[in-house]
Amino acid sequence: MKLDQQVYRKRREKLLAQMPEGSLLVLAASNLKTRNNDAEYPFRQASNFYYLTGFNEPEALLVLSKGGEHAVTLFCPPRDPAMEVWTGYRAGPEGCVERFGADQAFNLDEIDSRLPKMMDGVAQLLYPIARDAALDTRVKGWLETLGKSVRAGAVLPQSLADSDRLLHEMRLFKSSEEIVIMQRAAQISAAAHVRAMLACRPGSYEYELESVITAYCGSQGARFQAYTPIVAGGANACILHYIENDQAIADGDLVLIDAGCELDNYASDITRTFPANGHFSAEQAAIYDLCLKANEACIEAVKPGACWNSLHELSVRILTEGLVELGLLSGDLDELIESGAYKRFYMHRIGHWLGMDVHDVGDYRVNGEWRKLEPGIITTIEPGIYIAPDDHSVEERWRGIGVRIEDDVLVTDSGHQVLTGGVPKARGEIEALMNNGG
Ligand code: GLY
Ligand code: MN
Ligand code: MN
Repeated sequence: MKLDQQVYRKRREKLLAQMPEGSLLVLAASNLKTRNNDAEYPFRQASNFYYLTGFNEPEALLVLSKGGEHAVTLFCPPRDPAMEVWTGYRAGPEGCVERFGADQAFNLDEIDSRLPKMMDGVAQLLYPIARDAALDTRVKGWLETLGKSVRAGAVLPQSLADSDRLLHEMRLFKSSEEIVIMQRAAQISAAAHVRAMLACRPGSYEYELESVITAYCGSQGARFQAYTPIVAGGANACILHYIENDQAIADGDLVLIDAGCELDNYASDITRTFPANGHFSAEQAAIYDLCLKANEACIEAVKPGACWNSLHELSVRILTEGLVELGLLSGDLDELIESGAYKRFYMHRIGHWLGMDVHDVGDYRVNGEWRKLEPGIITTIEPGIYIAPDDHSVEERWRGIGVRIEDDVLVTDSGHQVLTGGVPKARGEIEALMNNGG
């Protein structure tokens, strides 16, 4: 499942329309990263670069020029039939023009001679300032080269600006084409979670469930996960970024799985928590139902105009109130919220934007105010409660319980659409699935 090149062209046009007259934007692709010796990690294109090109090769460079002779220039690795026997097909500059919408394209080895000239006399140079040390150094080098020619008439850019400001705001709002891909990614991940629930038995190893998830996603064409899956049995769920996934899951443990695949470089992000033996204990059920109440109430609150922070505040209020009712916190509700007492059990925020990056780009505050939700934004809603196994301030029966319930939610014109409804979250539905296959 891939986006059409027309989509990338429209994005470049939209970005160019927002760039100042006479400006130049420079954006680098990702490079291959060594894993060990001469083996490399699987290649993942830089999100901004992919967003504007759909071009999935390393080391490339995109230059957009507003008002110049060529609006879109790509630099890329040259074709090399002998090497391609080893590394696979490359588009080469010809392919960049024919299939990736470049007005002109050159081999990588022409970058250092061409970029200083392309920067000559521009009103503004846009690039991701201080995000990528290698690019910072290269831009400085190109500016120094250009600076050596001032007596020959060269003129340095009048100003520098951060390209992320424009790009990230664009990426925050998903088009209908992007929504289709993210719906599919979420659907695949939801089905993968269902399979992991069905596969789980007391004594299963965390990595067995991880492999159920990754194998299913891969079988649906989503070969990569959007982040390393968290498969946490028992108290491991209280470690928020637990990724060892190497322990046996005991009878009576809850299992927290936080996993989501990536499709055409778009993420999904789902957490479900379920009992290894198919039955919640009374304490597990109490904590679970409280998280579910917060999850459902916050999802209900997702609509255009809702303030981003009010979703978090709602989750804090519901969870704190519930923790008081269960005797895990004591005191006045407002004071417990004010003092942050709940943070011992709920230490992260309600969610984050979701898109090409799992923690997607886009400001959460705009002009000093929390952002208001608008159609096209996709956010996660993921309340959790984590009671540390060594928390001696609570009764022993509560210790080591960790629950998070995470869904992906699209803001629509009329409210919201949950993208991750394909995996159950009501306690009864989970138990029914695990005990009778649904
Ligand atoms: N999987 C990372 C997160 O839920 O934010
Ligand atoms: Mn998340
Ligand atoms: Mn997650």
